[in-house]
Amino acid sequence: MSIKLKTPEQIEKMRIAGKLAAEVLEVVEPYVKPGITTGELDQICYDHIVNVQKAIPANIGYLGYQHTSCISINDVVCHGIPNFEKKIKDGDILNIDITVIKDGYHGDTSKMYIAGKPTVTGERLCKVTQESLYKAISIIKPGIRLKEIGKTIQKYVESFGFSTVREYCGHGIGDVYHDDPQVLHYAGDDEGVILKSGMTFTIEPMINTGDWRTRTMKDGWTVKTKDHGLSAQYEHTLLVTDNGVEVLTLRSNEDFPRVIEHK
Ligand code: MF3
Ligand code: CO
Ligand code: CO
Repeated sequence: MSIKLKTPEQIEKMRIAGKLAAEVLEVVEPYVKPGITTGELDQICYDHIVNVQKAIPANIGYLGYQHTSCISINDVVCHGIPNFEKKIKDGDILNIDITVIKDGYHGDTSKMYIAGKPTVTGERLCKVTQESLYKAISIIKPGIRLKEIGKTIQKYVESFGFSTVREYCGHGIGDVYHDDPQVLHYAGDDEGVILKSGMTFTIEPMINTGDWRTRTMKDGWTVKTKDHGLSAQYEHTLLVTDNGVEVLTLRSNEDFPRVIEHK
């Protein structure tokens, strides 16, 4: 496995791409309400990226995918395809996942939204999923094993009786969208990878209320929980620094530090 370390110039470009991706999640937020369709939300993301940011929606054309965002509702784990037929309902939980390319570099991020009045389970799942991402980010520094990330997430979510999806993982990112290494969200084999300053990768745990197993629909994209339980996901693009981590896709209203330094 070859994991590229980014130069200061490349890191600056990653910061810009990350900031733009994060901004899209903020811009679309006020529109996420019962009654709107995922197609309309996707259109809002596209217009902002292309017309305002003058950037490229990385998902369009990626492995034949046709849309700017993946929007995954309730039992959809990931890769939900936006459409103009189905309206979002009161209490739905949905993930919007955006990847932007600016100046050749990628920023990849997603968050959960709750439409209308939250359900107790939906709200709890979203909160625990975000906390699992934050816990994992908080341990990152050069010298630790990559597998500590997955271990941290699994231990945390299982303490609430939730499960962590195995079939999809985080990934190295930079001028390439999905690069080495694979970042597992459970305790598994990391092939000996040790984190180094200059690495950039995503962490994007998909957490289920029931069983972790998934099923892909006939459209070839939509991934659902096999047992039809709820699923939530949060994703950030991260940079390993000399003594900790920088969250490249932090949103301006997000209650988490952009930079963590371990003395
Ligand atoms: N953004 C997703 C990820 O986090 C990948 C989406 S690929 C698509 O890696 F083709 F479905 F858009
Ligand atoms: Co990703
Ligand atoms: Co993503």
